[in-house]
Amino acid sequence: MTRLEVTNLSVEVDGKRILNNVNLTVESGEVVAIMGPNGSGKTTLFLTIAGHPKYNIVNGDIRLDGESIVKLYPEERVQRGILLALQSPTPVPEVRLSTLITAMLNKKAGKHITDPPSPQAIAEMTKLTAELGLKPEHLSRGVHAGFSGGESKRAEMLQLLMYKPKVAMLDEPDSGLDVDGIAIIGRSIARLARWYCDISHHTPRGDTSLR
Ligand SMILES: Nc1ncnc2c1ncn2[C@@H]1O[C@H](COP(=O)(O)OP(=O)(O)OP(=O)(O)O)[C@@H](O)[C@H]1O
Ligand SMILES: [Mg+2]
Repeated sequence: MTRLEVTNLSVEVDGKRILNNVNLTVESGEVVAIMGPNGSGKTTLFLTIAGHPKYNIVNGDIRLDGESIVKLYPEERVQRGILLALQSPTPVPEVRLSTLITAMLNKKAGKHITDPPSPQAIAEMTKLTAELGLKPEHLSRGVHAGFSGGESKRAEMLQLLMYKPKVAMLDEPDSGLDVDGIAIIGRSIARLARWYCDISHHTPRGDTSLR
């Protein structure tokens, strides 16, 4: 059972107060939609939970399974199982998408980040890439390098589905997607939620295919 708790969270960016006393609790298998107008602070909340250094917590706490994570570096939070699919990912042309995913999986498994991927990981990555409507060449391109808006959203989802974080945060996961893409992302979110039910020993229900 996993529990993310945000309590009385107030956050400043460059000295400007953005979030005021935000409270949120999310447990295993729950899908929570955070809605609000442009500029209301959704991305700020996600980036604060992810540990972006620009977001200064002036009050409150963020706990994962009872442990405060606010003093942890972003990479430590990823290792604890918190992963964010960004609203506007920054391209990293120097690193192939497949290399990034392999490094993330290696880190999670306690291996060296440059270790080769396992045959199972390659097979799963290849299958998910196709199911998400990406081409094999996207895996060998730089991360988000020249990706269309919709391709970037699918690539962010690929990382989440491969990494299987305890807490998956998706910032505007459907923006820029075509109709098929929106359906695929919706089913991917359902698949992640079912996976959490699975590891929490609930019985998963329904079709988990993405297409
Ligand atoms: N460095 C900064 N200086 C001043 N204001 C900032 C800074 N960074 C963010 N903000 C403001 O914080 C507010 C919240 O921004 P945020 O990106 O969290 O909103 P959002 O709810 O994700 O919006 P959207 O729906 O457009 O994605 C905005 O008004 C934004 O202009
Ligand atoms: Mg936003």
